[in-house]
Amino acid sequence: MANDCFVVRPGSGLRGGSTVPGDKSISHRAVMFGAMAVGTTHVRAWLAAGDTEASLASIQALGIRVERLSRNELVIHGGAFEPPKSYLNLVNAGTGIRLLAGIMCGQPFPSVLDGSEQLRRRPMKRILTPLQMMGAAISGTNDRAPLTIQPAQMQGIQYDMPVASAQVKSAVLLAGLFAKGATTVVQPGPARDHTERMLSAMGVNIVTEGDHIVLTPGATLKPINLTVPGDISSAAFPIVAALLVPGSDITLTGINLNSTRTGLIDVLHAMGADLTVTETGLEGGEPVGTIRARHSVLKGTQVGGAKVVEMIDEFPILMVAATQAEGETVVRDAQELRVKETDRISVMAGELRKFGAEITETPDGFIIKGPQKLTATVAEGHDDHRISMSLSVAALLTEGQSTVIDARCAGDSFPGFAGTMAALGMDIQQRDLE
Ligand code: S3P
Repeated sequence: MANDCFVVRPGSGLRGGSTVPGDKSISHRAVMFGAMAVGTTHVRAWLAAGDTEASLASIQALGIRVERLSRNELVIHGGAFEPPKSYLNLVNAGTGIRLLAGIMCGQPFPSVLDGSEQLRRRPMKRILTPLQMMGAAISGTNDRAPLTIQPAQMQGIQYDMPVASAQVKSAVLLAGLFAKGATTVVQPGPARDHTERMLSAMGVNIVTEGDHIVLTPGATLKPINLTVPGDISSAAFPIVAALLVPGSDITLTGINLNSTRTGLIDVLHAMGADLTVTETGLEGGEPVGTIRARHSVLKGTQVGGAKVVEMIDEFPILMVAATQAEGETVVRDAQELRVKETDRISVMAGELRKFGAEITETPDGFIIKGPQKLTATVAEGHDDHRISMSLSVAALLTEGQSTVIDARCAGDSFPGFAGTMAALGMDIQQRDLE
């Protein structure tokens, strides 16, 4: 049981400017790919959070020297890995374990990848199947972590991915770096493409044509100089809070606007949100820009198909927005939400019901009719960062003081969440439970 919480009281609106911490997906990839590149990779604005620190510790356990110039600035001296002295502990990080599994399948020594009880519950067959098809000697424990890997020569394959998952795509492509012949991944939807962008910037022969991604091995990875853009999945919390609380007007700068990640912005626009998005340039091969969000009267919407993967991590906060939108919000094709850090459909529905919300769960989504009046309560984050932060935003819409038990997990992706939100004017404190 967590012994810390967010205490939230409604306020008079969020105002001002802010940044958010570096993108989690890009920060995982920066340390892993930088470790494989021969030479010195310099990373600024790196996300120092629970999940990404686990990836960093893992590459250090593989003998890679990393200079920490500050909390968020790393110099990675990449090159050949050494056999680790113990298992690699990815803690709660699904991206960490799945991507590193692809890399470890290509190493000339055995390894074991494991993590927390929460990570051990998450499905790994989705990576085991294609990696085994390539000839990797990888197995799980009932298809879950711990994962055990032995050295094996892999062959490139064409893999038709059954789910649009960037983690699966990346695990296969990374194993492809060590395989004989080209590896092709065919994706059923536009899953985030940070792996393709970063490997290409490092000199890997990787080409995307429509839904086919083809990686031809052979090149030595070249080190890069990278400033990680702000994580749009973190920006989602202040954005939705500003849209929902009267009097709000905020501007977030340096946010990653990669179109494989901006599904929430499109959906909020369709709901009538007053959001202005301005692209200002490129950072580390990714488009970045400014998002201004002002209080808006939202209306219900429908989300399904390809849009789902472009906002897969933003459904918990969309559920909060939907409770305040006029009419019905219907989400379909989002069954992947059930295998994230928690079953995010049922956990969010259960916790929002504590605020008095009415939510209909469906096997692949939910239906919410709004606007609904929420009442202050004590809710729980279930050791899932995006649940804790979404519930804190829901607490703003009540008339009293709410407590969200389990605040520390917000630091898995958004260290300083309470401080950032408080600086924008939200009445939020992170406290130990009495
Ligand atoms: C991620 C991919 C997504 C996302 C996760 C990060 C990544 O997972 O939910 O938070 O960095 O590749 P899936 O690829 O499993 O959908």
